[in-house]
Amino acid sequence: MKEVLELIRQEVTAAFVRCGYDEKYGRVSLSNRPDLCEYQCNGAMAAAKEYKKAPIAIATEVCEQLQGQAMFESVVACPPGFLNIILSGDFLADYVNHMAQDERMGVDQVDTPKTIMIDYGGPNVAKPLHVGHLRSAIIGESIKRIGRFMGDTMIGDVHLGDWGLQMGLIITELRLRQPQLVYFDPDYEGTYPEEAPFTISELEEIYPTASKKSKEDPAYKEEAMTATYELQHGNPGYQALLGHILNVSVSDLKRNYENLNVSFELWKGESDAQPYIPAMVDKMKADGFAYVSEGALVVDVKEDTDTKEIPPCMILKSDGASLYDTTDLATLVWRMEDYHPDKVIYVVDKRQELHFIQVFRCARKTGIVPDSTALEFIGFGTMNGKDGKPFKTRDGGVMRLENLVAEINEKMYEKIMENKTMPEAEAKETARIVALSAIKYGDLSNQASKDYIFDVDRFTSFEGNTGPYILYTIVRMKSILNRYHDEGKSADGAVVLPATNESQKALMLELAKFNSAIYGAYEESAPHRICAYIYDLANAFNRFYHETKIMTEEDEDKQAGYIRLLELTKSVLEICIDLLGFEAPERM
Ligand code: ARG
Repeated sequence: MKEVLELIRQEVTAAFVRCGYDEKYGRVSLSNRPDLCEYQCNGAMAAAKEYKKAPIAIATEVCEQLQGQAMFESVVACPPGFLNIILSGDFLADYVNHMAQDERMGVDQVDTPKTIMIDYGGPNVAKPLHVGHLRSAIIGESIKRIGRFMGDTMIGDVHLGDWGLQMGLIITELRLRQPQLVYFDPDYEGTYPEEAPFTISELEEIYPTASKKSKEDPAYKEEAMTATYELQHGNPGYQALLGHILNVSVSDLKRNYENLNVSFELWKGESDAQPYIPAMVDKMKADGFAYVSEGALVVDVKEDTDTKEIPPCMILKSDGASLYDTTDLATLVWRMEDYHPDKVIYVVDKRQELHFIQVFRCARKTGIVPDSTALEFIGFGTMNGKDGKPFKTRDGGVMRLENLVAEINEKMYEKIMENKTMPEAEAKETARIVALSAIKYGDLSNQASKDYIFDVDRFTSFEGNTGPYILYTIVRMKSILNRYHDEGKSADGAVVLPATNESQKALMLELAKFNSAIYGAYEESAPHRICAYIYDLANAFNRFYHETKIMTEEDEDKQAGYIRLLELTKSVLEICIDLLGFEAPERM
């Protein structure tokens, strides 16, 4: 369906043209004076310059053309030259009823769907997920869902950090503790055990211990580096261990992501890119892009227009080892070969921006990625605590994601038990659902690139601009619908009637903005626009609810019309929260 803004623009533009002015002046926007009107056009002000006339004279002419049109209740020319527009109740009811007949509620899919790969999550194997990984997961998942809703083929890749020294560290520590394991016997020729020689909690202890030791003991670090080298050059025992580390980690990661309603189409890692490195490097050399500088192999990526220095992309260290740049480039090689994406999006901490500038430029320059494939970096800000510093545990440590989620679940559970008496199991499940909305909405309601303060008390509140408030509004709707249906009534086939008071109209106006909100969020990869929209919509609904006697309305058509309006609002809210990556409980 066409956006309301577009429908108004068409009428206003036609009026400008009929008066002899260019069509470009017919642009319409939401009113910034909601006390005066709903939409406005400022075109007369701009046209005044070109046509050397007073803006109000132009506005008055155009305004006359727009009188008596069914779409408008009123169009008024206001000094110095605004057109203030109020939609007619009939037009609005009609628009909303059309939305109701469309299962996508008036949101059209894109004409030419794209294949988009989205790299998000980015956890590191054998290290527990911490809050730093939370934002990538939440934002990436939402962008993926929005793209999919708009018709694009979205392929999410978790891009595990499963390569490099961390693996050598684990192997070294394990060998120290259990030298008798077959993985360390160079003469072993049998098959390796299927069972991993450690659990996830052991793994999560082994890695930090090894990492600490390596910082204090150069010999230990040397050993870990050798182990890493041997692992990467085919040591069968080490490779079997790597398999175990991956399996144990990945199943733990999957469980964690599942609790966040986050899932990935691909579970590829940095290690999957390694086989592509030799040929990629050879080609970069043969094509004359890569050269040796201070022992390392590099590709220049600076451009004349740079205002700050962009260092060369590092392809190989002097010892021949590959780096973070190399892995991301080789990952692009298989992504292009296997999926031919129209676009690759990276949702990563904005502090990695320089790395991606280098990688993107190098990938273009060396022909890994053609111009027809867009590369987009969506850098997110830091999640801070109330003290404005990166979020930490009470004793100052890095907060494990699991613990953070558990803490918020607990808080929500207490709240729910305070409010109502619900069976224990239902309260636990409800708490989990509502807590997730608190975490996700708290994050997504901010523009991704900005830092934000993770304020548990505010995020979990049932009032204000929060996830729980949105869910509370949906639950309220469900309960009204239940009561209505319990009376044996149904609003199937009913239509929304033109508004008879201000709060009804305000709700319909908000509903009618649904497609615009989604298009905006899609075009700008900006879930926060959906949050802003549903907050307004929920507020409009709650005002309507307080000012309208729905259940005691005696005129059945009127009542069914209200219920229809409610159902529609509920559907829109439900689509939106699904795009944000959470859901609503039955009650709370
Ligand atoms: N594993 C990395 C980290 O924890 C994030 C990976 C981001 N994605 C990428 N393609 N480099 O910092």
